Amino acid sequence: MDKTLSIRRQTPQSFNEPMLAIQALQACRILVINGKGGAGKTTLSTNLASWLAHQGETTVLIDADPQGSSSYWAKQRPQNLPNIHCIKIDKEARTTRSFQWRAPKSTRWLITDAPPGMSGPSLDDLVQDHDLILVPVLPSDMDIRASARFIGELLLTPAMRRMRKPIAVVANRVKQQTKAWENLQKFLLSLNIPFPTTLRDSQNYVRIYGQGCGVADFNQQAYARDRQDWQLLLRWLAAQVAEKPWWKPDDPASETNDMAC
Ligand SMILES: Nc1ncnc2c1ncn2[C@@H]1O[C@H](COP(=O)(O)OP(=O)(O)OP(=O)(O)O)[C@@H](O)[C@H]1O
Ligand SMILES: [Mg+2]
Repeated sequence: MDKTLSIRRQTPQSFNEPMLAIQALQACRILVINGKGGAGKTTLSTNLASWLAHQGETTVLIDADPQGSSSYWAKQRPQNLPNIHCIKIDKEARTTRSFQWRAPKSTRWLITDAPPGMSGPSLDDLVQDHDLILVPVLPSDMDIRASARFIGELLLTPAMRRMRKPIAVVANRVKQQTKAWENLQKFLLSLNIPFPTTLRDSQNYVRIYGQGCGVADFNQQAYARDRQDWQLLLRWLAAQVAEKPWWKPDDPASETNDMAC
């Protein structure tokens, strides 16, 4: 950890600050979802959270998956790295959904790690409450078929039909030059859904998960290729935010919204 990037330490935010329903936040809310388990939702959510936290704005990671993989990751996160607030959603808790789905008022980026197998009204609620959707997809025929079905369902949710929200696919664990990768590209082109980046199959992701880190937290040569993979996704995000600022232009925080990572 001694070789982690030297970073601008974010002022630790306390949960004493007002908590707002996520619908009321002046934030960009990103839903990371796929109906199928194991596609890379947690890897994508945690790594994205660490990239965004490095920008110095309040970043919240919502762990909506009962498995708790994102909250475990957040607990391991070293204190010298940019702070990420993690909120665990507990479906068994005796509190209302709207009480649980709250985040600090200063939140600028909110990333939700969704559970697998979402469908029907609960899928619609999730889509409704977020601004952007990221779907990680593994390049195997079985995963492509399952993801195609899921994306079809996602596009048909009432929330999506009311207001089409930007959606992008992130091809995960890609080994270039394989038939499965070619098939995945064809599938995405046929859906006319952007796939701004691919994440290569890399043991770095497996290793750093248990340390509460993302590839954004390391600048050694061993992470250079993985870090590179994220640049196009961050640019895609920046383009979406530029088109629709999720926080008021007179908010000073919006002026520091510099996506150059
Ligand atoms: N790009 C990658 N390279 C290597 N391993 C990866 C990569 N992405 C994910 N993995 C590994 O694959 C496994 C599944 O990934 P992850 O937990 O992110 O998927 P998930 O969609 O969140 O799964 P679940 O549905 O169980 O929550 C993990 O062990 C993770 O470390
Ligand atoms: Mg997960």
